[in-house]
Amino acid sequence: MTDDLPTVPRLPMARGGCPFDPAPELGALSADRPVARMKFPDGHVGWLVTGYPQVRELLADPRMSSRGEALRAPLALPMATDRIKVPAGMFTAMDPPEHTRYRRAVAGWFSARRTLALEPRLTELAAHHLDTMADGKGEGPADLVAEYAAPMAASVICELLGVPPAERLAFGQAVNSLFAVHSSAEEAIAGWQAIGALLRGLVESKRTRPADDLLGALVTEGKLTDEELATVGSVLLTAGYDTSTNMIALGTFALLEHPGQLAALAADPSLADRAVEELLRYLTVVHAGGIRVVGEDLEFQGHRMAAGDAVSLSFAAANRDPALCALPDELDVTREPVPHLAFGHGIHQCVGQQLARLELRVSLSALLGRFPGLRLAVPAAEVRTRADMIIYGVHELPVTW
Ligand code: HEM
Repeated sequence: MTDDLPTVPRLPMARGGCPFDPAPELGALSADRPVARMKFPDGHVGWLVTGYPQVRELLADPRMSSRGEALRAPLALPMATDRIKVPAGMFTAMDPPEHTRYRRAVAGWFSARRTLALEPRLTELAAHHLDTMADGKGEGPADLVAEYAAPMAASVICELLGVPPAERLAFGQAVNSLFAVHSSAEEAIAGWQAIGALLRGLVESKRTRPADDLLGALVTEGKLTDEELATVGSVLLTAGYDTSTNMIALGTFALLEHPGQLAALAADPSLADRAVEELLRYLTVVHAGGIRVVGEDLEFQGHRMAAGDAVSLSFAAANRDPALCALPDELDVTREPVPHLAFGHGIHQCVGQQLARLELRVSLSALLGRFPGLRLAVPAAEVRTRADMIIYGVHELPVTW
């Protein structure tokens, strides 16, 4: 038993020279100490897990809990879960059986079959947002984040849920203040409340005017209260927006910085699914990882973990572990798909992953098909990355075509 390990002082977040590689300390830990002790911002000493087999095993272990009231944030976040009471319906921060009940209510909407049926509409949306981005600009420049990735991601999740276009801007602004690490606690809470208010209004309107979108169908089913519905809706909107926005923009940036990979993809569009899978693994935008708490005393690979210990499971480090694939630090769009952890694993694995894959494939194919000469409008070193945000990506991506 080795529980007298040195303690990592904080979750490593600062990136090194390459904007696509996770914090260098994570790689070193994954190689030498895949299960390490780590100090959390509130002083608690818990665990940081960075090895692929270890992260995967713990994500599937029912003794790892996601109960919001017991979680500790691995970053000093304005909206740390331990500062709020977990409302009914926030199933990301619940264990079975509560988690199962809510997850089952929505999972059918994200099945592979249902998602595939959305492809024509997503293709239309991508074309529309590209038209808007390029309108009157000649060869550019444009900011790919604000003018394409974010509107595309917002349209997709808002259409699925049934958020009318007029309310989408307010929703985007609220999500930004919720997730920005530099937001004050008050701003973050205001953001969450604004999203809640938007959702409560929607639920109410769908009660009077039934709709066949996700929220409308849940209202008609009548299994959840209005308050639960508003929270479930808020969870889906927030989980599906920033992640997809940043994958579209960072995925574009990565391809532009790897011209050989971009050329391979352009020469053989049938590589698109593999390219999406590889970009998800290589970029792992949920870089602050999975947050869990040990539910009961246990031994794990020679370590004694006590009930109540906080655990940070690094998806980003695990996805660069040579135990997952050969040459993990290389982007290879021809790579045979590997069981990466970009969507997590176990009962909380991303419920929207099929939609996210489709959205990414359609958005990138439409963009690269429309602008074969797409390039950065500034030197790559000037692109501001989101190392300090919960979801990694770029703040802006100036491009010309
Ligand atoms: C590329 C885009 C996306 C990425 C990289 C991503 C990543 C993830 C990851 C890593 C988790 C697991 C977190 C954990 O175990 O702690 C997760 C959960 C989740 N994701 Fe996604 N996601 C994406 C898009 C979406 C979309 C489009 C939706 C649609 C609504 C969505 C909804 C959710 C929900 C609701 C959960 C919580 C599931 C649960 O607790 O049972 N995500 N996602």
